[in-house]
Order: sequence, then structure tokens, then C-alpha cells
Amino acid sequence: MSLWGGRFLDESNKLFKKFNTSLSFDYILAKEDIFASIAWSKSLVETGVLTKNEQKRIETALISLKEEIYKNPESILQSDCEDIHSWIEVNLIEKVGELGKKLHTGRSRNDQITTDLKLWCKSNIQILLENILNLQKSFILTAELYHDVIIPGYTHLQRAQPITFAYWCLAYVEMLKRDFDRLKDTLKRLNISPLGSGALSGTGWNINREKLALSMGFSCATNNALDSVSDRDYIVELLSSASISMMHLSRFSEDLIFFNSSESNFIELSDSITSGSSLMPQKKNPDPLELIRGKCGRVYGSLLSILVVLKALPLSYNKDMQEDKENLFDAIKTWNNSLSIANLVLNNIKLNRLSCYQAAEKGYSNATEVADYLVKKGVTFREAHHISGKIVLQAINDNKALKDLDLSKFQLYSNLIENDIYSHITLEACIKKRKSKGGVAFSQVEQEIIKEKIRLNIV
Ligand code: ARG
Repeated sequence: MSLWGGRFLDESNKLFKKFNTSLSFDYILAKEDIFASIAWSKSLVETGVLTKNEQKRIETALISLKEEIYKNPESILQSDCEDIHSWIEVNLIEKVGELGKKLHTGRSRNDQITTDLKLWCKSNIQILLENILNLQKSFILTAELYHDVIIPGYTHLQRAQPITFAYWCLAYVEMLKRDFDRLKDTLKRLNISPLGSGALSGTGWNINREKLALSMGFSCATNNALDSVSDRDYIVELLSSASISMMHLSRFSEDLIFFNSSESNFIELSDSITSGSSLMPQKKNPDPLELIRGKCGRVYGSLLSILVVLKALPLSYNKDMQEDKENLFDAIKTWNNSLSIANLVLNNIKLNRLSCYQAAEKGYSNATEVADYLVKKGVTFREAHHISGKIVLQAINDNKALKDLDLSKFQLYSNLIENDIYSHITLEACIKKRKSKGGVAFSQVEQEIIKEKIRLNIV
């Protein structure tokens, strides 16, 4: 049954009907729709449209409908209703008869859908925030476990300067902090109730919209009904936050895929989270990481999709906006799953300390230290950089690490270099001296881990 049959003489074309319906995907908004409908029914008591007793009957019926849905959400899909709003109204009428037909007084599906969506986003944001915190906790615990493991830090995928695995973990904690804050910020703007905006120009009934908003847990009611039913900024914002965070997770994945490669051999992923090849028996593939990396593209796609749907869309509601849901639902699920899988992977890695150390020793990642050593002896940095480059070239030609180069070879390029050069260029020395804020020094990283453990309530 449709909600708008009165004006129509002919039946809907079957193909059109199928094309028009959103029930197959908006049925997941049933809980939100019922929640907002109950709140709305209470407002209708204040306007005199419903008596207290009628409101109670509607509320009881809606609650029992919610319980039925809870037991079997997909039962909704059997119906041929146009969308979840129609489905709930039809089922309410089935339960309470004519009385159920009063509920839609003064509201429109236009304010209803955006209210439902905002409620859905709000509860999903809570899950996302929780998941982000959990992933941060795992990063901190991993950092603690491997605080002394030295790995090469890269630029251009070339060994650049030594860092520690803990420091690498802390970099991701920073990214996740920004993801967390972005979500909180999105939530702040999203948490404003559009209910009572009607179709586009406000409701004709004397509804206290502020009270209604607060009763649903929103911070206040929206200011302009025309904007309220048109607004999907919160979806764009949420999907931007999702895209940025997925980008972080894809970089995390890429780093670990690289660390796990036979070429690096820095980490080993446990059997429980890797898969084999159907042909090559020796393979142990980092599938979960590759999937996160791949799913990032899918989330970007959803952001682009909503931006394109909204571009140049006239005010206020247009059916185009029904296209806001599938991608949103999919992207949020994908983001949540990716956060959980990233967490799982992090808890299933083992570091190969020796390979990490040996790799950090190769590649002349301590060349900056030679330059700094010369600066301390009064050479300008540019000149010192040049000399240090020459020394690296010498070491490459001799097929040696800097620490294994004879002092006489160093002195070919500067007679300021003395025996103490060797203690300046150990990996540990390189790390220890970077102790100003944000640096890789062990002491600095330890402090950071302590701070984070307090922030994240890790005991
Ligand atoms: N199913 C619609 C959507 O998802 C609900 C709003 C319908 N409003 C309307 N005027 N047809 O956008």
C-alpha cells in the first residue's frame, strides 16, 4: 500500500515501483524511525492531535513492532511498501487501526528521513569512536612491547634515518587522534534535530521543536526548515572523515605489507590472519592488509558519490537524495570493519628484531650523523653535508657500512674526524640525540607511551 494513493487513478507501473522503492536498504533505519515516531507522537499530544491515551496506544504498538523487527529484521523485506516510513505506518495501522493514521499529522517523510539518518549516524559514530580508541590502545601496547626495536625509517622508500618500531606505532596514534577529533566535530554539527521541519517550510502544528529535539537526545532543533530537509552535509562530512581515516589505515596496511615482504622480513603475520596460495605452497599472504588497502577506494567512492548526487541539486528534497543511503551504510560498515581488522592484525604480528636492526644498519641511514659531527667541529652544515656524501660514496665503493670504514678513510675527506666518530654514528646514538619534542629518542617515546596509557586508561 502506498501513502499517497488518493490523487492517483492508475496503478503504479511494476518496473517503476521496483525502481522507486528504498525499503531493501532503508529497512535498517526501522529502529530510528520508531524512536523518532514515538517522540513525534508525544509532541502531537501537546498540540491536541492525540490524547494521552491514544499516544500511549501508539507508543505501545510501535514498541511491540520494534521487538518483532529485532527478532527478524529482514521480515520487513517481504512487504512491497515504498520505504521504511511507509512500512512502519502501515504496520502501526494494522496494530491500532484508524488511530495509526493520525501519526503522520504535521510531519513529512522529508523531515522524517533526515532525522532517522542523523540518529543512525549518531549511534554509528559512537561505535566508530570506540573502535578508534581500541585501535589506539593496541598501537600503544605494541609500542610498549617493541620500544627498543630499531627499524629503518624511509623517505622515497629508501632508508633514511633509524627510528624505532614504537615510534612508528605512535605516528599512527597521532593520525587516529585526528580521526577521532574529526568525528567528534562532525557529531557536533550533526547533532541538531530536523524533526518538525515538515516537507520544506515547517510544520503547521504548534510543535515545541526544541523540546522535541532534546527529548531525542539532540542538542537543539534546526533553524530553517528549507535547509533542514535539503541538508546532507553531515553525510558528506562523515564520509570525508571516513575517507581520511581509511587513507590512514591504507598507509598502515601498506607499511605492514612492506615490512612483511620477503625483501624486508621485519615482521611475521600469524597463520590465523594470513592465507595461502592455491598453487604456490610457500606463500603466506597478507590478505587482511591488502583488503583494507583496497576497501579504502570503495570508501572514497562513496564520498564522491554523495558529492555528485548533491551537486547543483535544487532545494529542497529531491528523490535523488534517496541515493544517499546505500553508500553511507556501506562505507561506515567498511570503516568499522577495517578498524577492527587493523586491530586484529596489530595483535598478530611478531617482529624479527635482527632483520630490523640489520636493515637499519644498511643504507647509510647514519650519514646525517657524520654531517652533524662535523658541524659540531665548526664546519658549516652545507659543507659538512658535502663531505659526508663523499664519505658515503667511499663506503659504497668499499662495500662497507660507515661504522666499518677505517678512520684513515674518513680522514681522506676531513682531518677534523677523529676516533670518536664511531660512537657518534651508532644507530642508538642517532636515535638518542633526537630528544626534542616529537623526536624519536627512546626517552621521548617512553614518555609518550606513559602519557598515552593514561589518556587511554590502559592499566
Ligand atoms: N525514501 C525516501 C528517501 O530515502 C524518503 C523520503 C521520501 N520523500 C518524498 N518526498 N518522496 O529519500
